This record gives sequence, C-alpha cells and structure tokens, in this order.
Amino acid sequence: MHNNNNGSRLVYIKNKAEIERMRAAGRFAAELLQYIEGFIKPGISTLYLNDLCHKYTLSRGARSAPLNYKGFPKAICTSVNDVVCHGIPRSNEILKDGDIINVDVTPVLNGYHGDTSKTFVVGKISPEIQRLIQDTERAMWIGIEQAKPGNRVNDISNAIDDYLTPRGYGIVRDLMGHGIGRNFHEDPQIPHFRQERLLMKLQPGMTFTIEPMVNLGTYEVIVSTKDKWTVRTKDQKFSAQFEHTILITETGHEVLTMPS
Ligand code: MF3
Ligand code: CO
Ligand code: CO
Repeated sequence: MHNNNNGSRLVYIKNKAEIERMRAAGRFAAELLQYIEGFIKPGISTLYLNDLCHKYTLSRGARSAPLNYKGFPKAICTSVNDVVCHGIPRSNEILKDGDIINVDVTPVLNGYHGDTSKTFVVGKISPEIQRLIQDTERAMWIGIEQAKPGNRVNDISNAIDDYLTPRGYGIVRDLMGHGIGRNFHEDPQIPHFRQERLLMKLQPGMTFTIEPMVNLGTYEVIVSTKDKWTVRTKDQKFSAQFEHTILITETGHEVLTMPS
C-alpha cells in the first residue's frame, strides 16, 4: 500500500507481513555486519571482505543488493579514511594500521532489504579520529531517538545537526538516509543536516535508514570521475558513518538491524 503524504512524495507504508520480512532482512544484515567485523585487520584487502560477505549472503539464500545496482560492481561498500561512502572493494586496497573503514552491507532476503553500516578501526588511531567515530555513532542514535509517530523527518535531521555542528564537524549533504523495503532506495529522504522547512510526518509502518556521514573538515564531497562511485571528502580529511534501518511503530520505533 502506498500513501501520497505531502503531494510529491510516495511513501510505502508496510503491512504486517511486509514488516515481518523487513525484520528478517534487517536481522540478517546485522548478522552479516557482525560476521565481517572479525576479519577486519591490517594486511587484508577490501576485496577479501567483499567476497566473504557475498558468499555468506548467498549461503543464506539472500542476495547482495549493491551488486549491479545502477552499475555498482561489488557486493558491499568499503569506504576507507577520506572515502565518505560507496567505496568499491579492491584487491589492491590493503588495510593498514591507523586506517578506518566503513563497511556497508545491504542483503535482500525474501524480496526485502536490510541496510546497515559501521565504521571500524584498524590498529591504533589518533584520539581525534576516535572522537569522530564515537560522535558519528552517537549522532545516529540521537537521530533514531526522534523516530516516532507525530514527529517529522526534520526532527531527526535537526537533532543530528544540533549534536554535530557545535562540535565542528562537516555533515555530508549530498547523501541522505532513505526509505527502504522492496526497493533499496525509496521515499522519504532523510537529511542529516538542519532543515528549515517542515518535512513529512512519520507514521507507523514506515521503514527508512538513518546514516549520517560525518567529516572532520568540510561537508563538501567529490565523486570520483574515474570509477563514478567513490565519494571522497573535498579536503581529504577523514569521514565516518554509521547506519541502521528502522521501523516506525505505534509507540516509537524498532531498530531492524540491531545486532543480537
Ligand atoms: N548501502 C548504501 C546506502 O546506505 C547504498 C550503496 S549503493 C551502491 O544507501 F550501489 F553503492 F551499493
Ligand atoms: Co542506506
Ligand atoms: Co547502506
């Protein structure tokens, strides 16, 4: 069922059966991210992480949504250091001490998507980068707290911005959270930076992601002209990201990609 909520946007409100499938997909996405964490260490390639995730996904009768999505060539996104998102796993990209890496997984199970990501550290990192990662995760949770019926999308955006901007970070604007379900990306968009206008009201049955991308320096990003995917910070400073898929319930929300 869909619901034309504010004139221009088309949001799919999920019914009971669809919510069950979203729960299963979300649970599996969380499990996949937990599985791959154990392999992240100096000396391994991002392609190795990709191949492990892809095999694990197929072994469970699921598929990897990123693979061939609008031409994306791999099964997961691996975004290292100044890469903000959509990093392509490569055999010649070897993790080393001091790196940070966001692994973003989106398995499709029974026709429904679960989308979650985390930024991991490789070896020892500076206190400044540690703080970036901590604050980014905290900002995601502060956004999630606002996810309840009666609130609006901009309540999520503004809460995240209120936390991050006074701390001096650049919040990425070009990429946002998104509705998710049978489609990888559907309405509404969820900005992670201040919105002056009122956005859509949240209602039970909506499923969407909250996934702030937070930069140590400028919010501005550049997309690689070479591979057309890799998004980097304009000033080459580090960027972190965390992502969960959530469901709006009658009383608040459920985090569908919560690890057990
Ligand atoms: N998982 C990403 C997101 O959170 C999207 C990746 S699109 C891809 O929305 F094509 F790069 F895989
Ligand atoms: Co997403
Ligand atoms: Co994602």
